[in-house]
Amino acid sequence: MSGFTRTIACGVFVLLLLCAFTGCAEKATEKSTSQQSEFDKEWAQLAKTPPMGWNSWNSTGVNVSEEILRGIADEIVASGLKDAGYTYVVIDDFWHGGRDSITGILYEDPAKFPSGMKALADYIHEKGLKFGIYSDAGTKTCGEMPGSYGYEEKDAQLFADWGVDYLKYDYCFCPDYVSANNDYRMAIDRYKAMGDALKATGRPIIYSLCEWGPRSPWLWGREVGGHLWRTSYDVYDMWDSPRNATSPIGIMASVDAVTNLSRFAGPGGWNDPDMLVVGLNNTGNIKGGGCNDIEYRSQMSMWCMLAAPLMIGSDIREMNESTRTILLNKDIIAIDQDELGKQGFRVFRKDGMEAWQKPLSGDRVAIAFLNRNSWDGSLTTNWKELELDPDIRYSAYDVWEHKSVNHPEGELSVNLKPHECQVFVLSLSQSE
Ligand code: GAL
Repeated sequence: MSGFTRTIACGVFVLLLLCAFTGCAEKATEKSTSQQSEFDKEWAQLAKTPPMGWNSWNSTGVNVSEEILRGIADEIVASGLKDAGYTYVVIDDFWHGGRDSITGILYEDPAKFPSGMKALADYIHEKGLKFGIYSDAGTKTCGEMPGSYGYEEKDAQLFADWGVDYLKYDYCFCPDYVSANNDYRMAIDRYKAMGDALKATGRPIIYSLCEWGPRSPWLWGREVGGHLWRTSYDVYDMWDSPRNATSPIGIMASVDAVTNLSRFAGPGGWNDPDMLVVGLNNTGNIKGGGCNDIEYRSQMSMWCMLAAPLMIGSDIREMNESTRTILLNKDIIAIDQDELGKQGFRVFRKDGMEAWQKPLSGDRVAIAFLNRNSWDGSLTTNWKELELDPDIRYSAYDVWEHKSVNHPEGELSVNLKPHECQVFVLSLSQSE
């Protein structure tokens, strides 16, 4: 072979090699893109129904610790809450020890979590439960612990390595947090940065956006990888608050903030009117004066009608009978978790009395009557007023009394105590 032919042959060989290599690389990219889109699809469906669990903030606040978390996990199992669907055990703010100044890696407070987060996650997983943690899109959390701003990838990887299944992501101390100009864009970018980082770990992690609502997260929550987004500021242990109050707010003010957002909720992404205050009885980290058991039951009823995430905020290690009955009512939970995934809507209000409707699977529908007044009230309504087909024959089941109710054809009547909410599931009568 002449020198020239040798050069040509060599060139062709290198070219072939190069083509083969690029071809492979292309195929590899194609493959990883398709794997990624499969994962994206899975991700989008991680919360087919509203997530349920327990969060440390309302009861323990700054005093969160591994000892408390282990006790809570034990109690979730022992009390039957796990069987009722409460799965996520979430540590809120104040778990942090700091961020290592050389590696940039976050670490837990060694006094509160002496065995380390991974060991705690393992403990929770061994109970068949899931483990959640909290961080913030800004430079600091709302409790001024280290935030994830600029450390999204590192923190997401750390959380995944620890075995985190749920991240609540707050919005304090974002650099442009108070600037009117790009505040909205900023929130989307910051939440997307963490959403992308979580997805890149390859671990399925429920992503809970805690922006509180001022930048309409229901419009972009799914787009940034979110599965639930707060629709208002913190709900405290109180029935109501003035409508111009921002934070904290009461149960009714939170209901009002989420009422017109039904169309944004559905399998994969949920409006989050904040945690349940049921059972707090004016103890713990957030106060507010407390609610009575009728009011706690009404919060549970309305949260379920709204297809809201059900995150318990009270210390269930000290649950009384009434709290137990409210949190463990499988009939009301079934309304929340119904596979149709529709958020309920208000049908009408009359002098402080309201009727709500939530379509359910299997041609059923949940109807709630709510008395906002501080006096007794009664109401008689018919199918037409409830926006139901007047020709359909329904039988009604009372989900708090756990029994079928007798009612005149096409009509329901209720007597409600102050702040009481009664809920019925209507199903097609056998004779239909
Ligand atoms: C708030 C958030 C609360 C709690 C708290 C922790 O912004 O709404 O639910 O997480 O921060 O500092």
